[in-house]
Amino acid sequence: MADIKITIIDREGVSHEVDAPTDMNMNIMELVRAYELAPEGTIGVCGGMAMCASCQCYVLTPEIPLPEMNPDEEAMLSEAFNVKDNSRLGCQLHLADEMEGLVVELAPEY
Ligand code: FES
Repeated sequence: MADIKITIIDREGVSHEVDAPTDMNMNIMELVRAYELAPEGTIGVCGGMAMCASCQCYVLTPEIPLPEMNPDEEAMLSEAFNVKDNSRLGCQLHLADEMEGLVVELAPEY
C-alpha cells in the first residue's frame, strides 16, 4: 500500500489532508468521492470521462509536477464555468507518488 498526502479544500473552504493510495489507479475525483468531500451527485457526474467538469479543481501547488493536459481535458475546460489558469479536471489526475503534498481546491458547483 503506497500512500501520499494530498490536501483537498472543499467547496465550503474547509481543508482536508487525506491519505491517497497511488497503487490503485485512482484519480482526484474518485479520492474526493471516497472521502465524501463533496455531496453525492455534484462531482464525477460523467464518471471520469472529461465530459462534465464537475470535478474541476484549482491546483494551489504549482511546484508539484502534474501530467500534461490531454486534448479532452483542454476542450472541456475551455467550455466550463469558473475556469482559472490553475484549473484541472480531477478525474484526469491519476494519483502518483510525485504528487505528494499536492493541494487542490474544488471549483464551485454549477
Ligand atoms: S468527472 Fe466529469 S469531467 Fe471529471
